[in-house]
Amino acid sequence: MAASGKIPVAAQIKPAFRSGGLAFRFGAGGQRPGRRAHGRLRAAACQNLSMQRVAVVTGASSGIGSATAVRLAEAGYRVVLAARRADRLKALADRIRDGGGLAEPHQLDVTNRDEVQALADSLERCDVVVSNAGGAIGTETVADSSPDDWRAMYEVNVIGTLQVIQALAPKLIASGAGTVVVMGSTAGFVAYEGGGGYVTAKHAEHAIAATLRLELFDQPVRVIEIAPGMVKTDEFSLNRFHGDADKAAAVYAGVAHPLTADDVADAVAWAVTRPAHVNVDLMVLRPRAQAAQHKVHRELGSADKA
Ligand SMILES: NC(=O)c1ccc[n+]([C@@H]2O[C@H](COP(=O)([O-])OP(=O)(O)OC[C@H]3O[C@@H](n4cnc5c(N)ncnc54)[C@H](OP(=O)(O)O)[C@@H]3O)[C@@H](O)[C@H]2O)c1
Repeated sequence: MAASGKIPVAAQIKPAFRSGGLAFRFGAGGQRPGRRAHGRLRAAACQNLSMQRVAVVTGASSGIGSATAVRLAEAGYRVVLAARRADRLKALADRIRDGGGLAEPHQLDVTNRDEVQALADSLERCDVVVSNAGGAIGTETVADSSPDDWRAMYEVNVIGTLQVIQALAPKLIASGAGTVVVMGSTAGFVAYEGGGGYVTAKHAEHAIAATLRLELFDQPVRVIEIAPGMVKTDEFSLNRFHGDADKAAAVYAGVAHPLTADDVADAVAWAVTRPAHVNVDLMVLRPRAQAAQHKVHRELGSADKA
């Protein structure tokens, strides 16, 4: 660090290759460059930044999206954090930057086509998009559920994913080695009682990934679907049960080790950082205790059983 206590700007940006891309670290020491040298270094830094691989993660303000953004930043991507809650995105971006990574918050609603297009237009390049924003609302039967809940789930999980892919596809193709990751679910393959609207939406997301992979077969873009089973995140079940914390907690009752957001993020980062010709079409992840959608091992004490 310079005597002034400030880090000379571009002079200390050092490129470092990691598995997934090009990362920049701020090194220590060095003289403050002269004015002309400073200008040249700034230009070089800008050029380097435009060479930096970019990963967009939707739903990055919590849970799986947040953990995925951290993992991809660690893998060397400049991560663009997209969701509706700007304060949470900013806090995560600060955390990633404090750890030496590159991150930018971008507030948007994936159901708003103009906002999604504005994100795409703001990016010089895009190498990876993780379409993760989504979730479940309600547990009513098909006969009793609200069409508004179904519409909301379809909008965020399906139309949101469609709009994000449509807006970013040209840049993914232009990158020469693009990757789309669709955050599906085991609900995209198996129905369960009370899950109708979510199961429908996740089946549709699976169909998007499968169709897109066929349509892009001659383009330099991989299409990966990650389909987790039970993941214990702070908000997923809470949102599903309209804020009822007891009902949300009951989903995970007695399950010794549900998946964590980081378990899923680890899988995403692994799939994304395979060589560009290796397409992990579909990865199903479950906790060991969940042998199938309905077959969950719960270690319930007498209090839990009451
Ligand atoms: N948890 C599980 O058991 C599980 C299992 C399988 C699959 N999944 C899938 O994994 C993904 C993430 O789930 P999670 O457990 O991490 O849930 P979560 O913590 O509730 O995360 C959902 C994320 O989506 C964002 N989001 C919701 N609506 C949005 C919109 N209209 N525009 C932009 N962002 C929006 C939320 O941010 P804002 O509210 O700030 O916008 C939040 O960041 C979802 O697609 C979910 O279906 C979850």
